[in-house]
Amino acid sequence: MIIKTTKAIPSHEITDEHVFKARRTLIKSLFAATLVGNSQSLLAQTNSARWQRLTQSDLSAKTLTPTPAQLVKEYTNYYEFSYNKEDSTKLAQALTVDPWSIEISGEVEQPGKFYLEDILSKQTLEERIYRFRCVEAWSMVVPWVGFPLVNLLNMAKPLSSANFVKFTTTQQPDAMPNLRSEAILQWPYIEGLRIDEATHPLTILAVGMYGDTLPKQNGAPLRLIVPWKYGFKSAKAIVKIELLKKAPLTSWNRSAPDEYGFYANVNPRIPHPRWSQNSERLLGSGFFTSRRQTELFNGYGDQVAGLYNDMDLRHFF
Ligand code: MTE
Repeated sequence: MIIKTTKAIPSHEITDEHVFKARRTLIKSLFAATLVGNSQSLLAQTNSARWQRLTQSDLSAKTLTPTPAQLVKEYTNYYEFSYNKEDSTKLAQALTVDPWSIEISGEVEQPGKFYLEDILSKQTLEERIYRFRCVEAWSMVVPWVGFPLVNLLNMAKPLSSANFVKFTTTQQPDAMPNLRSEAILQWPYIEGLRIDEATHPLTILAVGMYGDTLPKQNGAPLRLIVPWKYGFKSAKAIVKIELLKKAPLTSWNRSAPDEYGFYANVNPRIPHPRWSQNSERLLGSGFFTSRRQTELFNGYGDQVAGLYNDMDLRHFF
């Protein structure tokens, strides 16, 4: 049975009704109040040893040029709506993203339902400019706005028996036409991480991009971003997080285990069975989209290679 924590008391029970009804506005104002303007101030803020190492890398805006926002907003993969990128962008506008809560359960001391505005009121939002590499061999550079996933996990107090984290995303049958068919994927869309991957400082929950709240088609109101893994790991519109002893079965891995692994770390040396992963189309780079050499761990090897041993390397895909 889920025991509600104080933090899990629904906001409508503790928030003035007028404020409660203006939830989206409230979230926007929290967003504005807590956003750290750029990655320089983000780096200046932090003093953990792991973050210190990041200052040596190219995570700052200085070396990564964001892909034009319009392109990121229009070229989306959101299969609950459509397998066509333009259609999923249009159809996703029917999604209801307010109110929003996330249920956290499993191997935690304090399971419960956490309302988005309560979560955000405790966060300092940061801008993270990350490379984003899709398994389809295209890539983008996106200035996400969010906070480390570990901050939310800690609100539920994970137990030492938590080895994996499972993410379940929203199902809204009236808005999502593809939920009627399970020919390609089974619903809901599920993803998972090992606990050390989930608590790594590079792993964030994004609530915005390009300095504004997240568009519906890009995963509003809150999505996972794991920059060293193929994009399908970065689940959109998360409603449930379970901390587990064993690895969860994830959507793409279940649907095509020979093509999509649980780890899905970006690796140019391991081709997809139907195409090479050696290079990628960097969207929006100049008049013509250019190709760039794909990097192991999408270029984040300095930060994450230490998470994996030889045994894991065999499961890279
Ligand atoms: N999350 C959900 N719920 N449904 C999806 O279809 N697609 C994934 C991932 N998260 C997907 C999802 C895939 S395949 C990719 S590449 C990225 O979202 C795309 O994110 P973007 O559309 O914001 O570029």
